Amino acid sequence: MKPVTVPSQQYHCPMEIKIAPSLLAADFSELATAIAEVEDDADLLHLDVMDGHFVPNITFGMPVISSIRRVTALPFDCHIMTTNPTAYLEELVEAGADIVTVHLEAVPDPTAAISEAEKLGVGFGVVISPHTPFAAMEPFIESCRMVVVMSVHPGFGGQAFIPEVLPKVEQARKWVDFHGLATDVQIDGGITTETAPQAAAAGANVLVAGSAVFGRDDPAEAIRSLRAAAGEET
Ligand code: DX5
Ligand code: ZN
Repeated sequence: MKPVTVPSQQYHCPMEIKIAPSLLAADFSELATAIAEVEDDADLLHLDVMDGHFVPNITFGMPVISSIRRVTALPFDCHIMTTNPTAYLEELVEAGADIVTVHLEAVPDPTAAISEAEKLGVGFGVVISPHTPFAAMEPFIESCRMVVVMSVHPGFGGQAFIPEVLPKVEQARKWVDFHGLATDVQIDGGITTETAPQAAAAGANVLVAGSAVFGRDDPAEAIRSLRAAAGEET
C-alpha cells in the first residue's frame, strides 16, 4: 500500500505521510530479507551510519550500503552520525545514497556540505538532536530537501520518544509551509502507533521507525499500522 493523503487538522495543506523504516532494528544477518519485507510499503529506507565518535555506537558504512543497493529500489535516506560527515558524502553517494542528512552538532555551518551535495546531485538534509534548538537549522532549511528533528538521543534504536521535541517539529513545519517549500519534515526516534499521531499532528510528514517496524513479526503490516495511526492524528 502506498502513501495515503492525510488531511491535517493543524495545517491547510494535506500532508502525505511517508514511512522510513530504520534498518538498524533489522537482523543484520538477513538484511536482504528484511528489506524485501518492507519493499512494497516503505517510502524510504533509513540507514543510520554511526562512527563510535560522534555517537557512542558503531553501525555500518559504505560496504554495507553498496551491497544492499543491489537488492532494493527504495530510496536510501542516509542519516550520518559521524564527526566529519562532509568528507564522506561522495563515497556515500557512490554507495547508493539518495538523501544524506548531517547533524548540526557535528557541522554547525553546513554550507560546504550543501555545496558538495549539490555538486554530487544528492538530496541534502540537516538533523538536530533533542537538545539543539530549531534556530540552529533555520538558516539552512531553504537548501534542504529534508529537515530532521531527533526525538531520541542519537546512537541507539529502541529508546523512548521525547515529546518535548514536538514544538521544534511545529516550528519546522510552519517555516516550510510559510515559505511555500516542499521540504520534508522528518522525525526520528521512538515512533510507534502511539507517538506517530503526535508527530504527524505537529507537522512531521516523514516518520522514521526502527523497532516499530523490524521489531515486529510482520514489518509490512507494521508500516501500514503506522501510516494509519499517523493519519488519525490526535
Ligand atoms: C537513532 C537512529 C534512529 C533509530 C530509530 O540514533 O537515528 O533512526 O534507528 O529507532 P527506533 O525507531 O527504534 O527508535
Ligand atoms: Zn536515524
